[in-house]
Amino acid sequence: MTEKKRHSDTRMVPVPSHSIVPERDLGSQPVLETSHLGIEFGGLKAVEDFNLTIGRTEIAGLIGPNGAGKTTVFNLITKVYEPTTGTVLINGKDTHGMNIVQASRLGIARTFQNIRLFGNMSVEDNVCIGLHNQIRYSMMEGVLRLPRYWGAERKMHKEALELLSIFDMQDLADTQAGSLPYGAQRRLEIVRALATNPSLLLLDEPAAGMNPHETEELMENIIKIRDRFQIAIMLIEHDMNLVMGICEGICVLNYGKVIAKGTAQEIQNNPVVVEAYLGKRKEGEK
Ligand SMILES: Nc1ncnc2c1ncn2[C@@H]1O[C@H](COP(=O)(O)OP(=O)(O)OP(=O)(O)O)[C@@H](O)[C@H]1O
Ligand SMILES: [Mg+2]
Repeated sequence: MTEKKRHSDTRMVPVPSHSIVPERDLGSQPVLETSHLGIEFGGLKAVEDFNLTIGRTEIAGLIGPNGAGKTTVFNLITKVYEPTTGTVLINGKDTHGMNIVQASRLGIARTFQNIRLFGNMSVEDNVCIGLHNQIRYSMMEGVLRLPRYWGAERKMHKEALELLSIFDMQDLADTQAGSLPYGAQRRLEIVRALATNPSLLLLDEPAAGMNPHETEELMENIIKIRDRFQIAIMLIEHDMNLVMGICEGICVLNYGKVIAKGTAQEIQNNPVVVEAYLGKRKEGEK
């Protein structure tokens, strides 16, 4: 990997909530702020006292052992679950009491640990589902196929192909999504999430099942997406090469609790993290 792609040069600065954000984001409203966030499932504290701030254009990482609560954090941010304690602010707005759709309108989009595409639909139609959130014609104009409908449809087609081209997938537009190889399905999920025009993109194990070459490309593309759309990306990954290579701020969870926050270098040299997670990873594991 070239130095250009590395983020070790980003100057990270401390903010309240004991987080760090890129210095370049200091003047802007953080895209995410959680405070004392927690949830219990029948007595099990899956996530406890989770405090995190993510800068407007930050690539952030959430890591930790299996069952640590990482996906649960995403489910709390996206309002799959209402937290038992604490708050989630998206772009400064409190999401208390909101449902999934209301939270997504605030600017969050996600991919899932287990891919959730419409397998029987085409690649392009899967992207258009995301784009439809921003549809610009009325129901009546659509039913009657009025000019504004066709104009919007043409624009949507163009936008879908443009988004697919980020991953060089524009030629697969007519392919059935379910017939794509695993790695391509993961990429399509990212494109579909991007199509909703988020300010915070949450990726749950985006490199899972990818070969090393695909993972390298994914790393480049995550940076490309952040640079092009000027959004924040928070990712969960077990591939430490990816996390340490592109994440600016990293948060480590263990048994539902944050055990460390810091830069890649700080996290790699943190004895508590090494003991709880990094050191326990098997030889040969990515
Ligand atoms: N809906 C639920 N009901 C009961 N327990 C749950 C629920 N969702 C998650 N849990 C529990 O919360 C804990 C955290 O799970 P979570 O899926 O967030 O872990 P994770 O860090 O994403 O793990 P992995 O790396 O394996 O994906 C686990 O003990 C899990 O069994
Ligand atoms: Mg998970």
